[in-house]
Amino acid sequence: MNMEWLRLGRKRQSGFSASSTAEEVTLGIDGNGLTAIVTGSSSGIGTETARVLALRGVHVILGVRNPSSGNDVKEMILKEVPTAAVDVMELDLSSMASVKKFVANFNSMNLPLDILINNAGVGMSSFNLSEDGIEMDFATNHIGHFLLTNLLLENMKATALKTKLEGRIVIVASEAYRFSYRQGIRFDKINEESGYNSIASYGQSKLANILHAQELSRRLEEEGVLITVNSLHPGAVFTNITRHHSFLNVIVAMIGKFLLRNVQQGAATTCYLALHPQVKGISGLLLLFYGDVCAPSSIGAAWTLPHHHINSTCLSTLLSK
Ligand SMILES: NC(=O)c1ccc[n+]([C@@H]2O[C@H](COP(=O)([O-])OP(=O)(O)OC[C@H]3O[C@@H](n4cnc5c(N)ncnc54)[C@H](OP(=O)(O)O)[C@@H]3O)[C@@H](O)[C@H]2O)c1
Repeated sequence: MNMEWLRLGRKRQSGFSASSTAEEVTLGIDGNGLTAIVTGSSSGIGTETARVLALRGVHVILGVRNPSSGNDVKEMILKEVPTAAVDVMELDLSSMASVKKFVANFNSMNLPLDILINNAGVGMSSFNLSEDGIEMDFATNHIGHFLLTNLLLENMKATALKTKLEGRIVIVASEAYRFSYRQGIRFDKINEESGYNSIASYGQSKLANILHAQELSRRLEEEGVLITVNSLHPGAVFTNITRHHSFLNVIVAMIGKFLLRNVQQGAATTCYLALHPQVKGISGLLLLFYGDVCAPSSIGAAWTLPHHHINSTCLSTLLSK
């Protein structure tokens, strides 16, 4: 699917290459005065995203299901950037009650919200239902984030209106959407164990992430709201994401370090979308390595949904304007 290492050096329209790191793509950007929530920031791409946003002056809320891991990340960031503003808040995306509690706690802090990064993810495990009775990948990767986004939207809209600065919602999806079930999303069988396939289930949830970004982007644009929504594929990155798939996990543990992108590179697309002025006003796209970037019209062709908005413009075209 990826052969990332073959593409590492080539520079894209954005001026960055697939080997650029999150620090490199945000160099010189001042994030002071901005507030961001990063979900799943206790490891991997989320930790690096939170670190780099904090480095750029953004007040970062670590949304984590395990507060003690979150506190470790906070400590690590403060060690490097003693002036950083970082808060840890408990958030289990597989539980709707937890998502609601997180939002209530966040709202009680009376903070603005400029950037929401839906990064947390699970996948490739055996069939499992969440406490709400929803298949676990779909519950965590899509439903939890969908609810979180909806509950935070009013705050984001109010923030954008007040500051006149563009709010940004960044959804970490995956090219694994290609491995979804034959029909795309199994709307009538999401919580059924029969026919369950761990790879397709992960792909299905990531397809939902991409469609969520597109449709929300369309609605916000229609409403005239100053908030963009984009999804992305971070590349194949050396993290814990395969931990529940015994075979893949062994392979990744053996060769991942040599063949996959590191987290510094893996967080680049997210940080680019969250902070870079090049993507101001750009919304509804799926970004692959922030440069090999195209709207997912092929996704629409493969799985046509009634309300599915497809923006057929490539970012590279937009950037060249
Ligand atoms: N790595 C890749 O090659 C790759 C490729 C494409 C897309 N992605 C996407 O990138 C995102 C980040 O993944 P990663 O690669 O950095 O993997 P990772 O190291 O496993 O990080 C996943 C994060 O999600 C959190 N999480 C899992 N379930 C959660 C829940 N119910 N509530 C709250 N947080 C939860 C994990 O928390 P715990 O520490 O508590 O488990 C962890 O912080 C995911 O959305 C993934 O699908 C990764």
